[in-house]
Amino acid sequence: MNLLCINPSIFGSTGKSYELTDHAVAGLLAKYPDVHLTNRDLDGSIDHLSLAEFEANSTPSSKRTPEQAQLAQFADLLIEELQAADVVVIGVPMYNFAMPTTLSSWFDRVLRAGVTFGYTESGPKGLLGDKRVLVCLTRGGTYLGSELDAQTPLLKTLTGFVGLTDVSFVYAEGLSQGVRSVDEIMDGARKQITEWVQNTEAA
Ligand SMILES: Cc1cc2nc3c(=O)[nH]c(=O)nc-3n(C[C@H](O)[C@H](O)[C@H](O)COP(=O)(O)O)c2cc1C
Repeated sequence: MNLLCINPSIFGSTGKSYELTDHAVAGLLAKYPDVHLTNRDLDGSIDHLSLAEFEANSTPSSKRTPEQAQLAQFADLLIEELQAADVVVIGVPMYNFAMPTTLSSWFDRVLRAGVTFGYTESGPKGLLGDKRVLVCLTRGGTYLGSELDAQTPLLKTLTGFVGLTDVSFVYAEGLSQGVRSVDEIMDGARKQITEWVQNTEAA
C-alpha cells in the first residue's frame, strides 16, 4: 500500500494537525507492515505558483523548453506522489479561516488539466483512481456546520474535482477556546482516526 501524508502546519511536527496525521500513519503502519510511506511536508518547501512555473506545468513534457522541464519537475513529482498513493492523509490547520497557503499551493500544482482532471462535454471529470483520503482539521475555534467553515466545502470541491470521492474528515476544534481541554479534543479526534484506520481495506 502506498501512503502519502501531507503536512502544511507552520509548526511542523509539533503542530496539532501533524499529531493527528501522525496518529493515522502510525495506525496504518501497524496494520499494514508493507506500507510505503511518502511524507510531503509543505512548510518551507513550497512557493506560491509563478506564471513561469504554471506555463511550464501546463506544457506537455515533450514540448517543454529545457528551462520549463526543470521548472515543471516539482509539480510533476507532486502529481506522481498523488497518483501512486492508495491512501492520502492530509493535515489541515485553520489559518485565517482558510487552509494554509502552502496547501493551496500544493493544490495549484496537482490540479492539472488532462492529467488529474479533464474537461468533457458534460463538464469536468476527475481522473485520479480509487483512493481513500483522510483530512485532519485543527482549529482554534469551533465552526463545524456554520458558514464560517469555508474549509470543508472547498476541500470537498478540490478533492472531488480530481475524482477523489472516498474522503473522510476528522476535526479537532476549539483548541484555543479553553472550553474543553486540548487533550480531550485531541483524544476525540484520535479515536475517530483509529476507527477510520480500522475500516481501511488493504490496497
Ligand atoms: C496564523 C494563524 C492563523 C490562525 N487563524 C485561525 C482562525 O482563523 N480560526 C481558528 O479557529 N483558529 C486559527 N488559528 C489557530 C489554529 O487553527 C490552531 O492553532 C491549530 O492548532 C493550527 O493547527 P497546527 O497546530 O497543526 O498548525 C490560527 C493560527 C495561526 C498560527
